[in-house]
Amino acid sequence: MIADEKQLQEIDSAVQVMFGSLRERTLTLMQKPFSVDTKTSQNDLVTTVDKANEQFIREQLIKIDPHSRIIGEEESYGHQIAPSLVGHIWIIDPIDGTMNFVRQRNHFAIMLALYIDGQATLGYILDVMNDDMYHCWRHHGAFVNRQQLSAPVELPLSQGLVDINRYLLLSNVHNLQDVARQAAGLRMYGSAGIELIHVFTGQLSAYISRLKPWDLAAGRVFAEELGLDVKTIDGRQLSVLSSNTVLVATKQASQEIGWLLK
Ligand code: IPD
Ligand code: CA
Ligand code: CA
Ligand code: CA
Repeated sequence: MIADEKQLQEIDSAVQVMFGSLRERTLTLMQKPFSVDTKTSQNDLVTTVDKANEQFIREQLIKIDPHSRIIGEEESYGHQIAPSLVGHIWIIDPIDGTMNFVRQRNHFAIMLALYIDGQATLGYILDVMNDDMYHCWRHHGAFVNRQQLSAPVELPLSQGLVDINRYLLLSNVHNLQDVARQAAGLRMYGSAGIELIHVFTGQLSAYISRLKPWDLAAGRVFAEELGLDVKTIDGRQLSVLSSNTVLVATKQASQEIGWLLK
């Protein structure tokens, strides 16, 4: 095994151990009262649990991978994100689906990714309430609870379910209402992590949303490893450190969606 692989294997094992404690901590914090604040709008929430999780992940990453840089949603919010992609960059979404976390106490995820020189390398998505840990290492496979995932089955759009962000759907930008009409059905889960998991396991054929770097960072590792299309809605390459309108889909669904977009 080459030195870099050995280092990554050690990092990967330590991060998986960290996720075990993170789940326990999150479940404990959920039992007690926590505060909820708004950020850019009344639907854009942050809780003390988001902040505590991000703080905990940062503290652990400093020990696990000391020479890396760390970008976290709650700290980077409102701040400029460093533009360089050189070296190890960790991207944290401490609670993905904060609205679900607050209103449902369910259907939220904790996400973390490592990019090395701009390449999506390690990805982790923890579906906290189902205790399902999704983990992926570029060229080494994608797993759920250590069981390897295979590439999702290709279905025609007419037989597959799609998930489209509600703002994009309601504004019908890119003719997305037609995509919803042509598909077998429309689903919306309210957490990019949970929605992406559904694509990776073949339960959705496509997911389309406007996403910030931390919403997609982990999922992109899986999408690339599983041979899915992952690109901007107008077919461009995604930028790691900015917001993008993103399509993640099986090849067949992606092609059929491409024919419908305007
Ligand atoms: C949000 C969720 C939601 C998506 C938003 C995200 P957050 O993440 O993933 O499903 O539609 O764009 O911002 O803010 O709860 O981490
Ligand atoms: Ca948020
Ligand atoms: Ca979040
Ligand atoms: Ca998020």
